[in-house]
Amino acid sequence: LNPKINIAIDGHSSCGKGTLAKYLADQFGYRFIDTGSMYRAVTYAISKENIDLKDKDAIKTLLQTQNLRIEPVENQHKLALHYKGEDISEAIRMPSVSNQVSQVSEIDIVRTYLVKKQQEMAQSKGIVMDGRDIGTHVLPEAELKIFMTADAKIRAQRRFEELEAKKVNITYDQVLENIIFRDKTDSSRDINPLIQAEDAKILDNSSLSVDEQNSIAKKWVDEILSH
Ligand code: DC
Repeated sequence: LNPKINIAIDGHSSCGKGTLAKYLADQFGYRFIDTGSMYRAVTYAISKENIDLKDKDAIKTLLQTQNLRIEPVENQHKLALHYKGEDISEAIRMPSVSNQVSQVSEIDIVRTYLVKKQQEMAQSKGIVMDGRDIGTHVLPEAELKIFMTADAKIRAQRRFEELEAKKVNITYDQVLENIIFRDKTDSSRDINPLIQAEDAKILDNSSLSVDEQNSIAKKWVDEILSH
């Protein structure tokens, strides 16, 4: 029987990290943890309460109350995300949250709070975790680290089509602008910015199909497990 490994997937916004992570989790019977959804959930709660991003005390209090619940669910790839009892897993995908989440993820107390939760969730191994700082900071011991990217215009087109299908009122240019803005803030923030871990394998899927990208990554896992 193979011992379980942890897989860290980092990369730019909207380049399909979640799609790859879910595929690998299904293939190997692992649990997928989407850390972006955790930053989005905190962003949702902060904006719901109209908290000023400079008001550290208010943010601290918000994180200490039990109003925001972020919990793994057995046999599911989604975290359970609730605010004051309301399921917010759809609401966190809306542009109002996307537009604020990069600023919220620059706040040190938010990062410390979420990184601790993420490390606890990964203790049991058999985790596929995606984010920005997983291979560099959250799980530096992960057996496989993947750094994903794709051309910004291609990412914007993919995300635009997804939002359009959900009837979200947004233009391609607005989606592209948000992606470029998030790339910049994610890579330039002071604490745990998005950078490629030295030992990460790069996966640029600009001209790869989902199947092609999945099979490249699956081979990487197979190689590690066969040793
Ligand atoms: O993966 P996503 O687009 O849902 O992530 C939303 C935001 O959260 C992203 O703009 C940056 C932030 N984030 C982060 O700072 N660190 C992580 N590990 C995951 C996400």
